[in-house]
Amino acid sequence: MAILDNKKKNQVVSLGLSAAVLVALVFWNNTNSAANYQYLKNIVPDVQNGKYVFTVAGCANCHTTMGKKSEFVLGGGMAFPTAFGTFYAPNISNSKDHGIGDWTMNDFATALKQGVGPTGEHYFPAFPYTSYRLISDQDLADLWAFWQTLPAEEIASRNHDLKFPFSSRIGLIGWKALYFNEGWVGPDNERRGRYLVESLGHCAECHTPRSFLGGLQQDKWLQGANSLTDKRVVPAITPKTLSWSVSEIMEYLSTGFTPDFDVVGGSMARVVENTSRLSREDLHAIAKYLVNMREKWE
Ligand code: HEC
Ligand code: HEC
Repeated sequence: MAILDNKKKNQVVSLGLSAAVLVALVFWNNTNSAANYQYLKNIVPDVQNGKYVFTVAGCANCHTTMGKKSEFVLGGGMAFPTAFGTFYAPNISNSKDHGIGDWTMNDFATALKQGVGPTGEHYFPAFPYTSYRLISDQDLADLWAFWQTLPAEEIASRNHDLKFPFSSRIGLIGWKALYFNEGWVGPDNERRGRYLVESLGHCAECHTPRSFLGGLQQDKWLQGANSLTDKRVVPAITPKTLSWSVSEIMEYLSTGFTPDFDVVGGSMARVVENTSRLSREDLHAIAKYLVNMREKWE
């Protein structure tokens, strides 16, 4: 792709999108229209764990009202300038007019697991549902129960400001056909770590390079990327490049200090605000996952 000039690239993008849309319209609609998560109602929710899930998943990192101190006031407004245009985090507080105050648990589950809204609209992957789709039923029910304790914030969401053809949600059907239906990447023997890294912590959303259509390149898992939103390069965190021990990784995720006493910066600083509140067991699981991915790359 590197040898294509920009005009050609755009043509390829449009062509690729249109073709993918056609193929996908047919089978995506057949397979995924009847999302039904009513069974989640049978789970006895644990609100405290829901709060923990909220922290690990970093919902506040993007959705907290701009300029408000509390991470629980989710009026949105944060801008994410990308190559595709600027996305704005919507209001997901419990406001009935501007947020998701009139949603059911089924709506909430469909958004997180399918990237689809209550009126059938497809979400842009700037909302990392591509990772959250792997959330466990218990954690999802707990997160929803915790959501019921959150306040309403009465401000309207801002429209995204996107370039054609990305401005159309229709293209997302094709995008999902290309990038959405992939399973776990990491090894099965690191289940808790894999879950925290690949699903809730959505580490790959920043640390894995993307294709020119913005899909994660699973064959380059955690191999570092140009940040979509800031000028920073997101470092590779594969065992080949990151020589830190399990305890050094745990130290970084809990205090923000690197082994040579550098301090975490950029968008990772907000991630560490979250990981610093995780249990030792979970930090250990994350660090073990990163270190044990060795067999996959070497
Ligand atoms: C990296 C930033 C980011 C993170 C982290 C994030 N979101 Fe979002 N979210 C977005 C963006 C951007 C959109 C808008 C997507 C669109 O318009 O297609 C969105 C949309 C949503 C919507 C749809 C709102 C509507 O009005 O239809 C819900 C619900 C939502 N997010 C919930 C969550 C939850 C729950 C979490 C944590 C588990 C979370 N988000 C984490 C950026 C983020
Ligand atoms: C919002 C984007 C983003 C997310 C999500 C993210 N990271 Fe990072 N990460 C970064 C950036 C940017 C840096 C570089 C920080 C710096 O320059 O100080 C970084 C640095 C790191 C480093 C240090 C690497 C080094 O060589 O210095 C580790 C380890 C790390 N991240 C692990 C994780 C883990 C584990 C997760 C998931 C729980 C995660 N990251 C989620 C953006 C992100």
